[in-house]
Amino acid sequence: MTTTPVAGRTTTVAARATDLSKIYGQGETQVVALDRVSVEFRQAEFTAIMGPSGSGKSTLMHCVAGLDTFSSGSVRIGDTELGSLKDKQLTKLRRDKIGFIFQAFNLLPTLTALENITLPMDIAGRKPDKQWLDTVIQMVGLRDRLSHRPSQLSGGQQQRVAVARALASRPDIIFGDEPTGNLDSRSGAEVLGFLRNSVRELGQTVVMVTHDPVAAAYADRVVFLADGRIVDEVYGPTADSVLDRMKRFDAKGRTS
Ligand SMILES: Nc1ncnc2c1ncn2[C@@H]1O[C@H](COP(=O)(O)OP(=O)(O)OP(=O)(O)O)[C@@H](O)[C@H]1O
Ligand SMILES: [Mg+2]
Repeated sequence: MTTTPVAGRTTTVAARATDLSKIYGQGETQVVALDRVSVEFRQAEFTAIMGPSGSGKSTLMHCVAGLDTFSSGSVRIGDTELGSLKDKQLTKLRRDKIGFIFQAFNLLPTLTALENITLPMDIAGRKPDKQWLDTVIQMVGLRDRLSHRPSQLSGGQQQRVAVARALASRPDIIFGDEPTGNLDSRSGAEVLGFLRNSVRELGQTVVMVTHDPVAAAYADRVVFLADGRIVDEVYGPTADSVLDRMKRFDAKGRTS
């Protein structure tokens, strides 16, 4: 795996985008969704991505996660260059190395919580590591709900199933696009606390898009996007410092 020195220590890079551009359409209708973005996501680090609506957050996440193609530049997950992969290899990489948590939980209604959690591994024909699965279930606090179907669970519980599903296969990196966007603040705090624990205690790497400064404060760093570019980065964010930074966007326009 690639390593890079950060502030005197050596860390492993879980994913990296270099000069990444994504352009939709042509001529007058052309939209530059990402404009030569370079960013690293280090192992065992929790990164939040913030920025105004339309600034390219989802596009960046989808391109780095191999869910979307890009126009130029490169993306690496670990040591693997995504551009060099054929469709089948990309599908396998997504399945084996990446976990996803979406705003809509994407649970299958006919399966129990436990079956939903292990579904990606079942599809891949992989046996879940029992001890690990147990750790994950314990951490999300779903032990007494494992045989419930999604319709029998609260929104927060469903989202915790989605979080457990993303963690269960021990992916190299987890991407969440507004994973707490549909939750009340208490359930949201539970899910965020759990994500942070998975980083601190289990060494998981998490990248999360959010509009919420309180959610961003759970992360180790916040990357700010505006008009398809990274315009700032904050380490050790607090809700206040994030809010302050967002206000400056409004005062100075999007390219401060
Ligand atoms: N399929 C598409 N065709 C054309 N333009 C697109 C397409 N998908 C996204 N865009 C444009 O790319 C830009 C970035 O979109 P993106 O979804 O990444 O924004 P975002 O930061 O996630 O916004 P939000 O906070 O509203 O979710 C936007 O201007 C959007 O209109
Ligand atoms: Mg989005």
